[in-house]
Amino acid sequence: MSQPLRVGVLGATGIAGQQVLAALWRHPWFTVTAVGGSDRSAGKPFSDALREPSGASRWFADGRPDPAVFSLPCRRIDELVDAPVDLVFSAVSKEIALEWEPRFAERIPVISTASAFRYEPDVPILIPGVNDAHAEALHDQRRKRGWRGFIAPIPNCTTTGLAVSLKPLHDAFGVRAVVMTSLQAVSGAGRNDGVLALDVIDNVIPFIPGEEEKVELETRKILGPWEEPASFSVSCTCTRVNVQDGHTETVFVGTERPVNPTSAAAAMERFGVDGLRGLPSAPDRLLRVDADPFRPQPKRDRDAGDGMTVTVGRLRDEPVLNGVKYVVLSHNTKLGAGKGAVLLAEWLTRESYVDRGP
Ligand SMILES: NC(=O)c1ccc[n+]([C@@H]2O[C@H](COP(=O)([O-])OP(=O)(O)OC[C@H]3O[C@@H](n4cnc5c(N)ncnc54)[C@H](OP(=O)(O)O)[C@@H]3O)[C@@H](O)[C@H]2O)c1
Repeated sequence: MSQPLRVGVLGATGIAGQQVLAALWRHPWFTVTAVGGSDRSAGKPFSDALREPSGASRWFADGRPDPAVFSLPCRRIDELVDAPVDLVFSAVSKEIALEWEPRFAERIPVISTASAFRYEPDVPILIPGVNDAHAEALHDQRRKRGWRGFIAPIPNCTTTGLAVSLKPLHDAFGVRAVVMTSLQAVSGAGRNDGVLALDVIDNVIPFIPGEEEKVELETRKILGPWEEPASFSVSCTCTRVNVQDGHTETVFVGTERPVNPTSAAAAMERFGVDGLRGLPSAPDRLLRVDADPFRPQPKRDRDAGDGMTVTVGRLRDEPVLNGVKYVVLSHNTKLGAGKGAVLLAEWLTRESYVDRGP
């Protein structure tokens, strides 16, 4: 790429926004030229916006942003709408995204970690390497809404590991039914809403409002043909556990055609990432299978492929649904948020969905 594209990050001080910035460190295609936060951060240099009033740092991500980002002014979202950027990453809450993402999309592409538009009929939920054909819908979205840009969300961070692991099974054996229980990390709740340490230490919280519905809808939307959600049923229980990063899920799958742990592992191991090669944030593998019965574990496996590789373990026969069952782990703030959003932006740029503005 001759000249890097200029990108803005909305919600740059938050957990997902920080991971976007860390993924953009020394990025060969994108340069961060604008960052945004809420009123409490706006008007300060970004380095100051990352400090609590006590002076404590609010930087949680592994890695760091480019040094030049620290001196950018952190701005309110309304001040950024006309900023001279070619692309914006949106890492704000659903409510803020609902109001502001369309304002940006009138002019430029919006790559979003928020759920606000995921369920709109003209909005694909994209995981590069899994449902690339759905990106075509962005052309219709642009045309229908009269936008120069578009809104392209990544999935909910709990959907990501499930959808990536189901993709090769669905292609090879036809998924008929899925039952999943998640054990989700506290970073998934974000910094602003967050989970109180007093609530989660020494505890499991058996309910995450709205999460189960999101995973059920999104998995079928991603794995079906465009405009035709996959016909299999998905039933989830989503829980919060005392883990910092990395969502673990136990998955029970019924299939149309015969499957066993060996053929399922082979299909997962064959699942390639040819379409991702050459993208700066692409892992060598999107999915790997670990034969060690004590894996995957969040502490040991979340950083596989720098947080971009999903790990499956404990593949076994599933006698009740007639298929296979397994445990899957994915990094919720990397593949499931910041770096996953950057990978999508890279893919869309390479596929000519993004161009340099005036
Ligand atoms: N955490 C995850 O693992 C994860 C994974 C996938 C998707 N997501 C999604 O990503 C989005 C952000 O989540 P998060 O976990 O990063 O939350 P977070 O840590 O609470 O960060 C929220 C961000 O939004 C900013 N913000 C709040 N009010 C604002 C306003 N009125 N105008 C502009 N900016 C405002 C905050 O700025 P200040 O710091 O200045 O207040 C902060 O930068 C959510 O939609 C979430 O569902 C999160």
